[in-house]
Amino acid sequence: NSKITIAIDGPAASGKSTVGEQVANRLGFLFFDTGIMYRAVTLAVLQRGIDPKLEDAVSQLAQTVQIDILPPRIFDGRKADVLLDGKDVTWDVRSREVEANVSVVSSYKGVRDAMTEQQRRIGMRGNVVMVGRDIGTVVFPNADLKIYLEASAEERARRRYQELLHRGVSAEYEQILASTRQRDEIDKNRTIAPLRPADDATILMTDDVPVEEVVETIMTLIRENG
Ligand code: C5P
Repeated sequence: NSKITIAIDGPAASGKSTVGEQVANRLGFLFFDTGIMYRAVTLAVLQRGIDPKLEDAVSQLAQTVQIDILPPRIFDGRKADVLLDGKDVTWDVRSREVEANVSVVSSYKGVRDAMTEQQRRIGMRGNVVMVGRDIGTVVFPNADLKIYLEASAEERARRRYQELLHRGVSAEYEQILASTRQRDEIDKNRTIAPLRPADDATILMTDDVPVEEVVETIMTLIRENG
């Protein structure tokens, strides 16, 4: 099999990006984080002063914005350069305001259709580890391996909190926990491409499991899949 696709899905801060990037590095595959695309659309909506509740306006914008995710040219801890219509928005897409609105924006059909199409085009080249919410269920239902990372909301909020402190961003644990729960709630209950494990996904519980161990488990699954 010359074109391998690995799908990693799971709720907010379940470790998808950290784990996915390490798996991709070990395999020499492309790592692609689809959450960045939904965050970039949300940022565009906010920057233009569009009300995120306006489905038509938001969907239309999603079809016209140009999102590029490129290897980093600046070394400030970023994993990639995120460009929105050519402008660097790498850290802006991580803002609290984006996180508060991204799940509503991501629930719209027009937004999902536009993003899914681009993700399929990128994944089509093969040898990719793609992470998100609906990669195994919708974007690549024929993926060679599907992983669903799970962890308690408290554990995930703790991880996000540590990550923010590490970056020197002021954060409040309770606020992060509430916003994590709220995002999961919307992502799981939306009509289109809700967050859930694919029937053929391997579910990994990651509370108290070190990243290296999760990576090893996935590498073993890849070898077993042959
Ligand atoms: O993974 P991340 O936390 O960056 O994702 C941000 C948001 O983007 C999620 O809460 C979800 O609403 C949306 N998303 C999605 N489908 C994906 C990836 C992300 O709906 N494949």
